This record gives sequence, structure tokens and C-alpha cells, in this order.
Amino acid sequence: MLEKFARYPLTFGPTHIEMMERLTAHLGGKVDLYAKREDCNSGLAFGGNKLRKLEYIIPDAIASNADTLVSIGGVQSNHTRMVAAVAAKIGMKCRLVQESWVPHEDAVYDRVGNILLSRVMGADVQMVDEGFDIGIRESWEQAIADVKAKGGKPYAIPAGASVHKYGGLGYVGFAEEVRAQEKELGFAFDYIVVCTVTGSTHAGMLVGFAKDGRERKVIGIDASFTPAQTKAQVLDIAQNTAKLVELGKNIVEDDVVLIEDYAYPVYGVPSEETKDAIRLCARLEGMITDPVYEGKSMQGMIDLVKKGYFPEGSKVLYAHLGGAPALNGYGYAFRNG
Ligand SMILES: Cc1ncc(COP(=O)(O)O)c(C=O)c1O
Repeated sequence: MLEKFARYPLTFGPTHIEMMERLTAHLGGKVDLYAKREDCNSGLAFGGNKLRKLEYIIPDAIASNADTLVSIGGVQSNHTRMVAAVAAKIGMKCRLVQESWVPHEDAVYDRVGNILLSRVMGADVQMVDEGFDIGIRESWEQAIADVKAKGGKPYAIPAGASVHKYGGLGYVGFAEEVRAQEKELGFAFDYIVVCTVTGSTHAGMLVGFAKDGRERKVIGIDASFTPAQTKAQVLDIAQNTAKLVELGKNIVEDDVVLIEDYAYPVYGVPSEETKDAIRLCARLEGMITDPVYEGKSMQGMIDLVKKGYFPEGSKVLYAHLGGAPALNGYGYAFRNG
């Protein structure tokens, strides 16, 4: 589906799929749980889902003769860390707007984890006191204008690399990769669980899995706590991406399955249940999930198994999208383990 698009390799190659045997058994053994390790996909600054997206965006950035990647996210954004890493790798400058998206107070929140790594990689990090919003932000537009005013050539990458014309392509590739891995495994997954916030991960998967009729088997777990906006953004990106890859099939609103029950109390703040899911997965599988994204989708998947959402005998693929560095900003929440 992606042959006609330029790709700049940033990842190691196909990501590993493993069975979560102890978590499967712990939850009764009626649904087989697997994880696809997007969190271990690259040697670039701990990797994660943004690299698949950036592989299809960077050729356009290079062709534009830009000298500075400009992007935006919350203080502990994984995405901005990935943009900083890619800028370093391809020899561009990096300007990052880090907004106060999370009402979370930890003494070192703006010094550790993702933002620490971005600073170490040489990004020009600007803190902006604005709240959560996955849409296009004035602070980002100002940063782009500022780079230009200073004689630079900016290349704009929106939050999560999502609302970009090529933002959905990377996760179309994920679906194609899963299909190839399924041939080797000798079975197909019945459901794919994904954490959804800015939307292009879910949207790309939806388009990729629509090719074999599994678009409604992609189960998005909302972590934005603004699900209406997130759902609309997923649909929009999926429809644009479907046209780009010439899917030959319309994507409609009902194709976007987004479960809203686990994002509480708000974006970036873990509930007690999210923390319990993070601990359970860490203690049974040695697999680290974070309080902002994957901890919430892990909580969602565990709860859906318990509730019988997946029919007995189902094989469920959890897309582990990365994000572990943010855990450093939540040291107090896990001070007792
Ligand atoms: C670790 C992690 N998981 C999930 C997501 C959600 O992906 P998306 O923004 O494409 O919906 C992100 C980024 O926002 C992320 O960094």
C-alpha cells in the first residue's frame, strides 16, 4: 500500500511480537494476549510510535531544504523527544514548544524523562503555559514564524506528527507488517488494541487493516480525555490517508472504535486503576508502560478482557507504542512501587 511513498529509515525493521503468557494466564487464559513492541523499534533515543510516522515525513522535510524541525507537545511529550532525536540524526536543528498539557505536579517533572533527553540532544526547548489541546496551536505557529524571522528554514511537524498530510502512512505500514508476521505465526489477530490521542496511529492502522476487513477490530483506547475531538481527528486522518494510499474503500465514522472509559481523571494523570495496570504488567511481564498513554491502554485491555468484551478464544494484539521515559516524571506516584 506504501510503495509509491518515499521512506527515510529510522527504525530497526519489523518489530517483535511476543505472547504475554503470564498476563494471559492471570486473566483466566480465555483470551490470548500478545504485544507488538513498537517501544523497542529503534536505537534513536528509546524509540516509539512517532518514528514510523516520521519515516514518511522526513523525506518531505529534506526535499523542502528546511534546516529546522519545529514541533509541539506537552512537557513530557514522547513525540517532541523523537523529533529532537531525528533532527540530530539527519543534521537539522530542532525547535520544540512544550505546553503545560498535564495538571500534574512532581518536583522534577520538567527536568527528567523526555524533556531531559530532548535538551541533551540539543533541541531548543521553549516552555509555554497553555493547557491540553490536540489541535493546531498558536504557540507552534509563532515558533515557526520565529525560526523564519531569524533566517532559518522551518519544517513544521504538528503534535504527534498527526495532522500532517503523511502522518497516517507509518501505521498503514504497521498493518502490512502484522499481516506478513501473521503468515509466519500461522494465525491472524482478532483485535488490535491501540492507545489514541492525536489520532494518526489509530487512523493509519484503521486504513491498513481495512484492506482485509479488520478496520472495526482496531480498538482505540482514548487517553486524551477529549474523546469527541480525538475521534473526529482519527476519522479525518483516516479518510485522508485512505485517499493517499488509494484504499478504494470509504472510511466512515462507525469504523472508528474509540473506548472512552479509561482516560480519567484527565490527560496525563494516571488513575489508581491505571497505576495498578502499570504495576501488574511490569510484575507479570517485565514490560514497562507509562502513566500517560500505554498504562491507560493496558488498563483498558485488561478491563475489557475481564468484562468479556473479547469472545473466548480471541487473539488480541496490544500495540506497545513506547513512552516509558515519561515514567521518570511520576516518581512520587510510584514511590512505594
Ligand atoms: C507512548 C505513546 N502512546 C500512544 C500515543 C498516541 O498516539 P497518537 O497521538 O498517534 O494517537 C502517543 C503519542 O501521542 C505516545 O507517545
